[in-house]
Amino acid sequence: MARDTKGEQGAVRLGVNIDHVATLRQARGTPYPDIVEAAWLCEKGGATGITIHLREDRRHIQDRDVYRLRKSVTTRLNLEMACHPDIVRIALDVRPDEVCLVPERRRELTTEGGLDVIGGKKRLASVAAALSAAGIVVSFFIDPDLRQVETCAAIGVPYVELHTGRFCDAAGVGARRELGRLIAAARHAHALGLKVNAGHGIHLGTVGAIMRIPYLDTLNIGHSIVCRAVFVGLKEATREMLVAMRKAGARS
Ligand code: PXP
Repeated sequence: MARDTKGEQGAVRLGVNIDHVATLRQARGTPYPDIVEAAWLCEKGGATGITIHLREDRRHIQDRDVYRLRKSVTTRLNLEMACHPDIVRIALDVRPDEVCLVPERRRELTTEGGLDVIGGKKRLASVAAALSAAGIVVSFFIDPDLRQVETCAAIGVPYVELHTGRFCDAAGVGARRELGRLIAAARHAHALGLKVNAGHGIHLGTVGAIMRIPYLDTLNIGHSIVCRAVFVGLKEATREMLVAMRKAGARS
C-alpha cells in the first residue's frame, strides 16, 4: 500500500533478504542452514516478502534455492538479479512475484550503487518488458537521482527501489544530505506515478530516519536482520525490525 505525503508509514512492508543465510551454508558446503526454514521464520516474524539475490557467481543463493522458495514462500518472493541472459531465463522459468533489477560486478562485496538506467535504457526496457509479460512485477534499483527516476518512469516500470546504502554509511551533514536526496527522489517518483521501495545497509540504528522517506511501499533489509538473528533468531530479528519501523512510522 502506498503512503501519502504526510508520511503515514504505519503499513510500510518489510521484505527480508535471506542471502546471508545461504552465505553461511556456502561457507562450509553443508546442507544447513535451510533456506526454506529461514524464509518461513521471517514470514512468522511478520515479513511481507522474502528477497533473494541470485548472483552470476552464485556466491550465496543457488538456482535450487530459487525453485524451492518459489514453492514454499507464502508471502511474496522478490528476486534481485542483474540483466544477464542466463539469470533472465531462470527468472522467466521460476516466475517470482517480483524482480528487482540491480547492477552487478563480480568483485564487489555487495551491490555497490544503483543501475544506470539512462545509459542502459534499451537493454533494461527490453528485459523489463519480457519479465512484465510473464506477470512479474518489475522494479529498478537506483540511486536517489532525479534523472534516473525520470528514465524509470519513461520506461514504464511500476516500482523503483531507492539505494539507501550511502545514507546508511554516512554520518552527520553527509547523512542529512543523503536523506534529503532520498526524500526528493521518492517525491519525484510518486509524482511520476512510480511506487517506491528502498533498501541496502538499513539497520536498527538507521531505520527510524529511513522511515521519514515519503510514499514508502516496502523496505528490503537483509544483512542486519541476519546478523541480529545470530543472537535472537530470525523470527525475533524480523519482528524487532518491524517494531522499529512501526515506532518510527507513528512518530512521523
Ligand atoms: N535491496 C537491494 C536491491 C539489494 O541489492 C540488497 C542487497 O542484496 C538489499 C536490498 C539488502 O541490503 P542489506 O543486506 O544491506 O540489508
